[in-house]
Amino acid sequence: MVRIARLNPLRRRKKTEIKLLPAPKEQRNRRHLLGIEGMNAPGINRILDLAETYIERNRAQDKKHAILRGRTLINLFFEDSTRTRTSFELAGKRLGMDVINMSVGNSAVKKGETLIDTAMTLNAMHPDFIAVRHPESGAVQLLSEKVNCSVINAGDGWHEHPTQALLDALTIRRHKKRIDGLKVVICGDILHSRVARSNIFLLKTLGADVTIVAPPTLMPACPESLGAKVSYHLREAIVDADIVMMLRLQRERMEGSYIPSIREYFHFWGLDREKLALAADDALVMHPGPINRGVEIDSTLADDIHRSIILKQVEMGVAVRQAVLEVLAMDNP
Ligand code: NCD
Repeated sequence: MVRIARLNPLRRRKKTEIKLLPAPKEQRNRRHLLGIEGMNAPGINRILDLAETYIERNRAQDKKHAILRGRTLINLFFEDSTRTRTSFELAGKRLGMDVINMSVGNSAVKKGETLIDTAMTLNAMHPDFIAVRHPESGAVQLLSEKVNCSVINAGDGWHEHPTQALLDALTIRRHKKRIDGLKVVICGDILHSRVARSNIFLLKTLGADVTIVAPPTLMPACPESLGAKVSYHLREAIVDADIVMMLRLQRERMEGSYIPSIREYFHFWGLDREKLALAADDALVMHPGPINRGVEIDSTLADDIHRSIILKQVEMGVAVRQAVLEVLAMDNP
């Protein structure tokens, strides 16, 4: 028993280095991270608190903290990605894992292999984690039912993108020192946005006042059911906002025309300095990226380090993914 405790770096670290909250009862033994919906505040804060411990370490020269040495992470991405895939790779490597990036374009998926067959093939090689991005909502959950390892949703269709919401929350918490009571406005293509859905669930759970804003064509049916306030006018919704989160137009998910023209879209729903002036004086601007400059957000505003925390979001992405991997490993030793 003693020998096992000594050999298990997770256990050793738990005792000596970090004072991590135990997993909330109903979330103990969660094998996967499929979405934010259903998570409670202690479960979310546990990941955010652990992510905090990685931020300074990631800024140091020696970024390695190999507590998951010997384990394997497979990044299985059926959609393009820059930030999410790179940060999962860095997170895994900094924790000492072997990380494989499966490029679906060069895989047997091209030869017609189904999602389930791909999942079972990878599972046969005994990975410990698979991070999956897929264009269909629900595909990641389906895959998780076929494998023995932990599955992390890296974005499934319009459904959820839990690690994005966690990194957004970490970024907000570090800049505003709280989330409870903040006025957060999420504006853009709410209809197709998994980022919006995960953020609404998370921010509401942590006590923020959330408003979603979109043109009627880019708002889901029954938007109130998401649990946020609903507006169709950015100039109205943004008044006194502490955080303005802009979303990309997800053209790859659109069939047909959802907006009259880019010019009109930017005029009403794009963020510029004139609209931002209506928000709180210290309001901060966020965007999950990739940005369409001049479409969702004015280019100089996106680059203004006094107002825009877009690159901080990217930085927090690595720390959050390290924390997610560690928490899943801790709960499923
Ligand atoms: C988001 C995604 O893929 O859902 N991007 C990301 O993960 N950074 C948002 C987007 O692509 O618009």
